[in-house]
Amino acid sequence: MSTAHAPTSGPVRVEVSGLSKSFGAVAAVSDLGFTVEPASVTGFLGPNGAGKTTTLRMLLGLVRPDAGSATFDGVPYAALPQPVRTVGAVLETAFHPARSGRDHLRVYCRGAGLPVSRADEVLAQVGLADAGRRRAGGYSLGMRQRLALATALLGDPAVLVLDEPANGLDPEGIQWLRGFLRHLAHDQGRTVLVSSHLLSEVEQTVDRVVIVGGGRLVREASMADLRSGADGAGTVLVRSPEAVRLAEVLRTGGAQVDLDGDALTVSGRTTAEIGSRAFAAGVELHELRSHTSGLEEIYFQLTAGREQYAATVPTEEAAR
Ligand SMILES: Nc1ncnc2c1ncn2[C@@H]1O[C@H](COP(=O)(O)OP(=O)(O)O)[C@@H](O)[C@H]1O
Ligand SMILES: [Mg+2]
Repeated sequence: MSTAHAPTSGPVRVEVSGLSKSFGAVAAVSDLGFTVEPASVTGFLGPNGAGKTTTLRMLLGLVRPDAGSATFDGVPYAALPQPVRTVGAVLETAFHPARSGRDHLRVYCRGAGLPVSRADEVLAQVGLADAGRRRAGGYSLGMRQRLALATALLGDPAVLVLDEPANGLDPEGIQWLRGFLRHLAHDQGRTVLVSSHLLSEVEQTVDRVVIVGGGRLVREASMADLRSGADGAGTVLVRSPEAVRLAEVLRTGGAQVDLDGDALTVSGRTTAEIGSRAFAAGVELHELRSHTSGLEEIYFQLTAGREQYAATVPTEEAAR
């Protein structure tokens, strides 16, 4: 891995606003808005068909939106003076199989007006220094993903957009990708947007999530907020020798509580709110923690819930 090094162009914020795109009768993306901050990894999550790839393609000027905008520090992709220095992307991965990884990168450098010396620099960054001179056709899937990432890094971009980069990687590859993306964001200050249809793939990597379902925004939140239950979607585990009384206190306050012996699972309240209620009621606590693995449940519920909501909209309108 390379040493800490900030991108030449400085930090760049991505802003998506009112973005919509239909393909015939299919509304792939509807009025979608979110932001992607520098120095953090943002997970772009949603099941297959949720509109992730279409959104990323609009971000990169590859698909023309029906409405809305996607900008990099206020500038749309097509108007960027040096796009390869601002945004690097991994969408589909296709390489000339007879060409070495290094030659692939050097050809790309010439096309993009970058010094060919960048090829060896990025190969080293993604751990392909040794394999760089071998035919890309003989690369494993993991090596091809690394080469794609190296291509995205050629212009030393402030923003990295990666569409399902963990697809087909073995656990070791995923582990490497996690560390690498966090390094690019946290140590180098880059803006990293990474899509996945599998929450488990990105859960341990990302600082923020943007969840989409049926082309619409379902939730935009920081992992810290999701984990603390601050957005009302997580659960909190509590243990107390006075569990029954605490359950009563919390239920009176409107929280949903499951009681099992001395353990309570509380929905809709943060750890801070529960601690403060317990303190006010003079209830002793032995444990108070947010239940992080509940994010999977959140992802599932939010996505399913949104689809359900979308399906009920015409009915509600018809009833008016
Ligand atoms: N070029 C296209 N022509 C027609 N339909 C498309 C096209 N691209 C995407 N779609 C449709 O748009 C929806 C969103 O697709 P996509 O953006 O690929 O979702 P995701 O990447 O989240 O799986 C899907 O219903 C898909 O079939
Ligand atoms: Mg996709």
